[in-house]
Amino acid sequence: MPHALPEPNWPSQEEAQRSLLFSPLKVGAFTAPTRSWIPAMVPWRATEEGEVTQDVLDWYGRFAEGQPGVLVIEATGIRDVASGPLLRIGHDRYIPGLKRIVDEVRKRSQGKTRLLIQLIDFLSIRRRPEPSKFFERFLVIEERHRVGLKSVTGESSWLHASEVDVRKALADLPNDSIEQILDDREWEALQFGARQRVWDLHEPAIEELPRTLPTLFADAARRAQEAGFDGVELHYAHAYTMASFLSPLNQRTDGYGTTLEGRLRLPLEVLAAVRERVGQDYTVGCRYLGDEVIEGGGRLADALSYATAFAAAGMDFLSISKGGKFEDAKQPRVGQSAYPYTGASGLECMPTVRMEETPFGRNLPLSHAIRQSVRDEGFDIPVIGAGGIASFVQAEQALQNGDCDLIASARQSLADPDWWLKMRQGQGASVRRCKFTNYCEGLDQKHKQVTCQLWDKDKETPDTCGSKPALSLDGKRRLTPPPMPRS
Ligand SMILES: Cc1cc2nc3c(=O)[nH]c(=O)nc-3n(C[C@H](O)[C@H](O)[C@H](O)COP(=O)(O)O)c2cc1C
Ligand code: SF4
Repeated sequence: MPHALPEPNWPSQEEAQRSLLFSPLKVGAFTAPTRSWIPAMVPWRATEEGEVTQDVLDWYGRFAEGQPGVLVIEATGIRDVASGPLLRIGHDRYIPGLKRIVDEVRKRSQGKTRLLIQLIDFLSIRRRPEPSKFFERFLVIEERHRVGLKSVTGESSWLHASEVDVRKALADLPNDSIEQILDDREWEALQFGARQRVWDLHEPAIEELPRTLPTLFADAARRAQEAGFDGVELHYAHAYTMASFLSPLNQRTDGYGTTLEGRLRLPLEVLAAVRERVGQDYTVGCRYLGDEVIEGGGRLADALSYATAFAAAGMDFLSISKGGKFEDAKQPRVGQSAYPYTGASGLECMPTVRMEETPFGRNLPLSHAIRQSVRDEGFDIPVIGAGGIASFVQAEQALQNGDCDLIASARQSLADPDWWLKMRQGQGASVRRCKFTNYCEGLDQKHKQVTCQLWDKDKETPDTCGSKPALSLDGKRRLTPPPMPRS
């Protein structure tokens, strides 16, 4: 049985006014007018070149109408390299487009929403190959493959066979024999698609990351500042480069891995480079994992140490997430890439009503422990909690309990971006409540324009500006939610 949604017990306007949720809080250089936060969500609406489109403006403008205290723009690539319809900030030519988002959010939130942009770096991951192509083109044939062929077939002639014959023979073997012959990374490349690791020191670009990333992040942060954002969120979470540096799985032997200090070194150097570029009077925080939820990965104890180190180094906020790793992702179909939100760690990142234990407020114990730990160390850095927060009572209790200082709500804000405003105005009963069944996440997985299944119940209702609702590329779905009913 799926879990029922928590009782909403929506507040009256007076209760909302008195609440912690709707009271201001300083976050680094700015003050968030309320403690409501929409965390980064990729909607796949940029151009293939990573430029801002009208759809991107409509998406963020629509979130702004609900007047969250803080809105975080999607994971935005800091390199100037092709990465599909994901926003990019890897060159100065992106600044004018990003400025348009800032203007749109300022206008449509009536200046009531502070705006951050999430800065991301990620390593290469290939699609799962056709086995024939893998053996024909991708596999680098070495002596051990010939030795392996000899061992599984019992024929020593393989030791002297031509590369073409070795490739053909490998392609014709049953899977269990192939697994015996390939090493772990080759087997993974065949089954899932090749994926770079931060400890692939034999690859010059990976070896160089500690030299390249601080500048890439610092340049990106400077562009965000020029575009008018109130601050940046460094993406140190989930399956991406910086989280991989922090992970105990990081085996780099050049001083940027293995020990706790080594793993922290690059994230702190990135922060220092960013800070130097944008100055003290600019909000710089990070999103990172309270628990990686994978075998051999970082647990809460690691996250507590990182929190102290980040706070001491001058991070302005800590946004806590959980899981979302490649290590336990499901095997993709041939021709598709692995998606880090499909395994157990992915489920913890975006918990659903179908999981065994409740998805609601599920990750708050992590943010609570992290907040308590940094407070004990004497830091008052704001901690942001997320994960299945979808009612006023839940949000307010979390703040009162010290689980976190700001409430991040992704999917409930997607289902109804006006929910913050509705609660404030005592109109909670009209909130369109998220079902937590992850239809939106399924679209994200396919890199399709993200929408919410609930919006389509009002398919004909005009958009906020009164025009016919724009539809997704497949022509079937509303691209933005219906407007808030006038009271
Ligand atoms: C469609 C979609 C896209 C997301 N994209 C990002 C992202 O770009 N960066 C990030 O840190 N988290 C991303 N997330 C995770 C959310 O920010 C959030 O942590 C997660 O959904 C759990 O919060 P919720 O229960 O309030 O939805 C995404 C989630 C969804 C549903
Ligand atoms: S698609 Fe489903 S899980 Fe996603 S926001 Fe809408 S109701 Fe929530």
